[in-house]
Amino acid sequence: MSARHHISEELGHDFLKAFYHMVTTARNYQDNNQLIRNSVRSFKSLLDKITTGGETSFLLWRSRFYLGGEKLPHRREASGITNSMIEYFAKRGIESFNFLESSRDASPEDILIFTRLLNDAVKFKDSHSWLAQKLLEHDFSWVQVFKKQEDDEKDYSESQEEKRYQKARNTYYHAVATVKDVAAKAAKGMVGVRRSRRLAQNMVELIQEDEALMIGMTTIKEFDDYTYAHSVNVALLATCLGMHIGLSDVSLEHLSICAFFHDLGKVGVSKDILLKKGKLTDKEWDKMKTHPLIGVRKILMLNASPSLRSRIILGPFEHHLNLDMTGYPRTLFVTQVSLMGKILHIADVYEALTSERNYRPMSYTPDEALKKMWSEAGKSFDTILLKRFIKMMGTYPIGSVVELSDGSFGLVMDYPDETERRLPLVLHLIDEGNGTWQRGDMIYMADQTSRDLSEQLNIVRTIPPSQLRINPADFFLHVK
Ligand SMILES: [Fe+2]
Ligand SMILES: [Fe+2]
Repeated sequence: MSARHHISEELGHDFLKAFYHMVTTARNYQDNNQLIRNSVRSFKSLLDKITTGGETSFLLWRSRFYLGGEKLPHRREASGITNSMIEYFAKRGIESFNFLESSRDASPEDILIFTRLLNDAVKFKDSHSWLAQKLLEHDFSWVQVFKKQEDDEKDYSESQEEKRYQKARNTYYHAVATVKDVAAKAAKGMVGVRRSRRLAQNMVELIQEDEALMIGMTTIKEFDDYTYAHSVNVALLATCLGMHIGLSDVSLEHLSICAFFHDLGKVGVSKDILLKKGKLTDKEWDKMKTHPLIGVRKILMLNASPSLRSRIILGPFEHHLNLDMTGYPRTLFVTQVSLMGKILHIADVYEALTSERNYRPMSYTPDEALKKMWSEAGKSFDTILLKRFIKMMGTYPIGSVVELSDGSFGLVMDYPDETERRLPLVLHLIDEGNGTWQRGDMIYMADQTSRDLSEQLNIVRTIPPSQLRINPADFFLHVK
């Protein structure tokens, strides 16, 4: 989103050199050593410079380094350092780093921890996964590490494609971890929102880059605690809808934050009720219905500017209110649901219907959920917004498992034709025979119409993923 600024050749080489010095001094000296502190400081000041115009990647591709997409020209006098760094990347199976703008907030201590992690990663068999996990544990969202592809023959665009998936995946899991962390802290008292704001920004950018992939990610339903994955899914769906009705970037960010926190009030509802299997009693429901109000109280305690707080408070308060003002909480103060509240309500209900819940083990397929919701247009949901939402999700929503006319199965991945979301791109699922499904070819349903009628493949119906025992999210998370 931010304008690409030019990174000079000089700056590129200085950065490579500083990186090299930092990792080597860290290998040889203790934390409080002056040499280390100096090398961290020089690295940091260059890092600040290269991320001035937004996130910047540092990539190794076929033995050449690229900074911010620009190739570092070969310099004979720097070849020793360049070769060492190539080896350093290779030993750890790293292809690139992505430094986000937020890296300027990283402290020298953070940078040093990051350096030590990088050095240590070499000891582990799968260095990349180990490192990614450690970065998550340290909440280092300012840097992302991408894995080198096994197949070096892959062309550049394919590797970029895999990176896009990795980035989406990282942001997703980071969002879940953040929401969880905020909820844990909110149960005790004050929490900052800086992290959540950054996440919201990343999320909006990712949605603008690849909406279909981000909608696909919402098929992730299982996480150790469903509430957090649910909140992130609602954020993705709500933000997509916001984008479709033309909200500004700033409003989209607010909408994302709203959605992250819409169920924050559940920290005030006991686990026995939240995780109860089977129907809730009236008394338990009454308790459950307090979560929007508790949420508002928690949001008021967030360490955010008053203007931000006021923008993110209404949506969570209203997300269980229907258009006709039935639902909860019962209130005399609000006589009309706000735009944010209406959007959240749609995203929230859709997410919940397509997920298995303790009290309702059978979930709806995406198209069944939309159909059910449509029957309540004008009563529960704003008709125009719901119409946009249904159009956005497509005839067979992204993530749907479908049966094709030849009896085979597929997964709806995308609607390449933006204007008319009628004919999707479907990933053919190949039955391995032992209960596992492999990726087959991509079939663009629009191409089928030009084939002989006898050979045409059509979508017959959607089926619940559980019928094939597959998890659609797996196919969005892994590229081959
Ligand atoms: Fe809720
Ligand atoms: Fe919710």
